[in-house]
Amino acid sequence: MAYVAVLMYIAAMCLHFVELLNNGLALTPPMGWMSWGYYMCGVECETVPEKCLNEQLILSVADKFYREGYQEAGFEYIIIDDCWSERYRGKDGRLKPDRKRFPRGMKFLADYIHARGLKFGMYTNVGKDTCMRYPGSRGHFSTDAKAFAEWGVDYLKVDGCFVENTYLDTAYIKLGHHLNKTGRPMVFSCSWPYYKKFIHHTNADLEQVAHYCNLWRNYHDVVTHWPAIVGIMSYFRDQNNVIRQFHKPGQWNDPDMLILGTNSLTESQSRVQVAVYAMWSAPLLLSCNMNRIKPFEKRLLQNMDLIAIGQDALECMRHLICS
Ligand SMILES: *[C@@H]1O[C@H](CO)[C@@H](O)[C@H](O)[C@H]1NC(C)=O
Repeated sequence: MAYVAVLMYIAAMCLHFVELLNNGLALTPPMGWMSWGYYMCGVECETVPEKCLNEQLILSVADKFYREGYQEAGFEYIIIDDCWSERYRGKDGRLKPDRKRFPRGMKFLADYIHARGLKFGMYTNVGKDTCMRYPGSRGHFSTDAKAFAEWGVDYLKVDGCFVENTYLDTAYIKLGHHLNKTGRPMVFSCSWPYYKKFIHHTNADLEQVAHYCNLWRNYHDVVTHWPAIVGIMSYFRDQNNVIRQFHKPGQWNDPDMLILGTNSLTESQSRVQVAVYAMWSAPLLLSCNMNRIKPFEKRLLQNMDLIAIGQDALECMRHLICS
């Protein structure tokens, strides 16, 4: 009996190690562009063309990164958030990209982005529907993980809308496991702590979150005006002693996107957002029309002294935090 117990113990330990995220990714905080903050659920392309989330938009971000110095500055991931798919899965059970807005499919986008040395990100939800009521991954983790891997996805943002508190804890771990099984390294961005805290009013076990996710959202979505940035900064200041211990290479607290380029910050407010996010070693994800970035914003975003602070994985939040 003792022999069996020892074997089971060893098996459990091995399982524990196998389950570690350890995908070797996000050793510095991810930098790039994500659609949500500015384009949101940009599906009304005919009536609101300036906020249209489509293939053309994603290609144009890749071109901007490639041609205008953003890539050299470290901006790398181009991430499509919610509202990319058809309203229903295909007969084969797979998620289908919206046929009007993404006529050439996701693999085409991934190839275009990869050909420029950049990386491609997508989005799903652990619940049955996404937050905007497109099909979510609940009950389809394996199918969806395989699809994302086949399409060439390098980064997956996973929301936590419309699920029970206890399900959240198992779902992120299981989906992470299915992503790992595909064999394709994908940065795993979780919204787990946000949903625990602000939807279910319990505290996330950040040690566990940090164990399974490369980055995680702690607080509300950013919106494109200054008071949202003040709110985020206050929350991170208040939580700093709790969250900083989990903040390190491969595992980052995520205060959400930069809002430069959206015509919502003054020059000094823009400086504050970039400087504070760099001091936090936060992910630096733009969300804007790249054609509308003003010269002072471009200079800030390509200020290599600032970026170097933000990408200094060893200093992190450990030393530089506002009190
Ligand atoms: C899967 O997990 C194992 C164990 O942590 C790790 O060594 C491997 O790199 C992971 N693979 C991917 C593709 O994430």
